[in-house]
Amino acid sequence: PRIAVFASGSGSNFQALADAAYAQQLDADVALLICDKPRAYVLERAQAANVPYVVFEPKQYLSREQYEHNVLHVLEEYDIDWIVLAGYMRLITPVLLHAYEGRMVNIHPSLLPAFPGLHAVRQALDYGVKVTGVTVHLVDEGMDTGPIVAQQAVMIEPCDTEAALTARIQAVEHELYPQVVRRLMRGKS
Ligand code: GRF
Repeated sequence: PRIAVFASGSGSNFQALADAAYAQQLDADVALLICDKPRAYVLERAQAANVPYVVFEPKQYLSREQYEHNVLHVLEEYDIDWIVLAGYMRLITPVLLHAYEGRMVNIHPSLLPAFPGLHAVRQALDYGVKVTGVTVHLVDEGMDTGPIVAQQAVMIEPCDTEAALTARIQAVEHELYPQVVRRLMRGKS
């Protein structure tokens, strides 16, 4: 299968997926990166990894739906089977949801349904939970909702900082996401 990763920022999860594909651990090709931010660092990673990328700036379109119709057109050109969201900071509309129903996943840095949305690591620290973690889920129209595919817990230490906890959570993400994608590609999830 051919995967498109969608990302808006640093792209460390994109990197983990591209590395796993390069090492033939994914049973899939990372065939395309879609990005909504022209200066995102993930674009440099894509260039270095030889993954083609297309930048779509939402403000150049009249609506979210029109924006996604243009994205969809490119996904079809590249023959993309699965969409893997990795730090893509936009909600998905029915345009892409219907085209990729059951074939779109997201990763979120909390044990959903706790702490959806932005700043999930800070939310967990502020609440005072002792355990947080990482969730991979199928995507629906909501923000960080949709059927859960995998979760992994991360313990919060007594004097944890947001930076330290984020680093431990991201280390888990970089292991978990490629594993889950491989399982999905093999049709075992
Ligand atoms: C990750 O923590 C992911 O869970 C969240 O956004 C972050 C993206 O980080 N959805 P990166 O761009 O992959 O480094």
